[in-house]
Amino acid sequence: MKKTKFKKNILGIGAGYVGAPSMVMIASKCPDYKVTVVDVNPQRIAAWNSDQLPVYEPGLEKIVKKTRDRNLFFSTDVENQIAENDIIFVCVNTPTKTFGAGAGQAADLQYWEKTARQILENSQSSKIVIEKSTLPIKTALAMERILSSGKGNITFDVLSNPEFMAEGTAMSDLENPDRVLIGSRETKSGLAARQELVDIYSRWVPAEKIITSNIWSAELSKLVANAFLAQRVSSINSISALCEKADADISEVARAVGTDSRIGSKFLKAGIGFGGSCFKKDILNLVYLCRFYGLPEVADYWESVVKINEYQQDRFIANVLQSMFNTLAGKKICVMGFAFKADTGDTRESPAINITRKLLAEHASVVITDPKALANAAMDLEDAQGQISYVEDPYLAAVGCHALVIMTDWDLYRNLDYGKIYRSMVKPAFIFDGRNIIDHRKCFEIGFNVFPIGKPPLTRL
Ligand code: NAD
Ligand code: UGA
Repeated sequence: MKKTKFKKNILGIGAGYVGAPSMVMIASKCPDYKVTVVDVNPQRIAAWNSDQLPVYEPGLEKIVKKTRDRNLFFSTDVENQIAENDIIFVCVNTPTKTFGAGAGQAADLQYWEKTARQILENSQSSKIVIEKSTLPIKTALAMERILSSGKGNITFDVLSNPEFMAEGTAMSDLENPDRVLIGSRETKSGLAARQELVDIYSRWVPAEKIITSNIWSAELSKLVANAFLAQRVSSINSISALCEKADADISEVARAVGTDSRIGSKFLKAGIGFGGSCFKKDILNLVYLCRFYGLPEVADYWESVVKINEYQQDRFIANVLQSMFNTLAGKKICVMGFAFKADTGDTRESPAINITRKLLAEHASVVITDPKALANAAMDLEDAQGQISYVEDPYLAAVGCHALVIMTDWDLYRNLDYGKIYRSMVKPAFIFDGRNIIDHRKCFEIGFNVFPIGKPPLTRL
């Protein structure tokens, strides 16, 4: 290994939404460590080395500017970097498999396995390999088997250190995590590797928040944490449907239920359904694992979380159609927000994709507005048929529209001048608030017909 002035050399493989921010945080908190992030995608690495970072996260750019070329480096040279680093975080993507056995549910581990083989081929010294990607239980075993298939006498310790940060709050989550979870083999070398990683996080995370466990528990806990979070969203969304039928108000119900300290108030916001690259993928992975282990009742239970999410979107679009006199053909609809949540440009699995396609299928013409996600939106809808335009300014986007459909909970949309917007729209004008973020009564008084989620509509029709 090359000698450097740094105390430790750390590598992150995969410069995506997780790999880059988490390595950036280590570089920021450990200026005496050299942190390198590699990726097979040269455009992504070029962007990380430029002023236009490929990922938008509040606070990220500032830390990148402070650490880049000091002790943080971005590179495409995966092979040499593997050789030069002894602590390797694997942060590659693990999407849902789209082919073969388990298609539509199981995790596609091809990128993961390729990385394992690359690590084996390019290692001349023993290494600690850390799973940061979200993986099915027992993946570490497969990793160990691949890494121990080499002939040399170097050794590899595999750890599971799943990441719990959420997009939009990634930097604060990484800086002040609820917990850091580190799973290892409970052998002498497994425990020593675990301690190496504990030492890194101890630089900024209080000891009581660093949880250690056996490796399989760590792998499974990540899937279960996401499943529980998504389950809360589906639970409240299922009740929003009942509220709409029975004249109850979902915000009042959520508040009344959430003030029970055993239940808690977080993740009880009803809306258009959860998006993002992980909830659906991870629950389906859990469902697949349960079926694999012969637990069909458990699998069905968790699968229903995804089904309610789809139902919520179907319900939403049916309501738009029905409220607008059962025809959208030729009408102009403004889709407000395309990111799957506020404060990110990420649109993976965003409910807005599905809703926009359904609007287009009804022959509506769609104007999409979003402060950070228009480039991704255009890529997501590349193959979509119909009239779509992209307008960053929400006021301009709404001009001449028949309806506003709020898809993302951007703060920006809470405080727009809806009187001005109303005046520029075709009447009767509609708002379908898929996030319950605007002042419904005020918008009704302006003249809109307002359709929230899980609350009685305010309409003059
Ligand atoms: P991503 O697609 O944004 O990034 C993955 C990167 O890995 C890509 O840039 C890809 O080019 C690169 N890559 C793939 N194979 C490679 C290889 N062999 N060598 C080098 N680079 C390679 O994905 P992401 O959102 O960062 O997610 C990564 C993992 O982290 C997933 O398992 C995901 O479930 C998990 N996770 C994601 C989040 C999140 O908020 N996005 C949070 C927690 C955990
Ligand atoms: C989620 C988890 O919160 C992270 O802990 C986890 O690390 C990550 O997945 C992952 O594994 O990728 P993320 O998807 O980035 O993070 O964002 P969330 O804040 O969890 O939101 C997910 C979706 O649920 C969004 O579409 C959001 O709008 C929706 N949501 C969330 C609701 O509809 N209601 C709520 O009350 C909360």
